[in-house]
Amino acid sequence: MGAAPKTNKQGEEQIPRRHFLAWLSGVGILGSAMAGVFSTFVFMKPRATYGQPNRFRIGRPDEFPSGARMAIDSKRVCIVREGNKVAAISTTCTHLGCIVAPSATGFQCPCHGSQFDVDGNVTGGPAPKALSWYQVTLTPSGELEVDKDNEIQTGTYLSV
Ligand code: FES
Repeated sequence: MGAAPKTNKQGEEQIPRRHFLAWLSGVGILGSAMAGVFSTFVFMKPRATYGQPNRFRIGRPDEFPSGARMAIDSKRVCIVREGNKVAAISTTCTHLGCIVAPSATGFQCPCHGSQFDVDGNVTGGPAPKALSWYQVTLTPSGELEVDKDNEIQTGTYLSV
């Protein structure tokens, strides 16, 4: 014969301490298992980012008046507009990667003094090679899109 269930002063049956502790342990073990499974799935999904996307839109062609050389430092690119032609030139110095700035004669690096002409060719300083040119395309919505994964030959413009 088992012991009669305990009751409180109001005559309600009390849950035995042993059952309560067993239930609490079960909840703890189940919670730990669920947390383990969840963290395993979180771990399996890659969360790495590799910087900004290399393909991005910069706006409509009419936002760049003829003769414009607009540097977009956040994208490390300079948009050049000459007449109805548009190009995107890298503003990442080929020496050690500083951001070059457009100057009266082309581009100037503030770090070690490399100089580039308007096409990005090296004219002075320690830079070992010319600035890259990136492919520019016109999207169906009429915006210019730069693809930094696609380097093109220096002097290649998009007609707009
Ligand atoms: S990083 Fe531009 S000259 Fe050194």
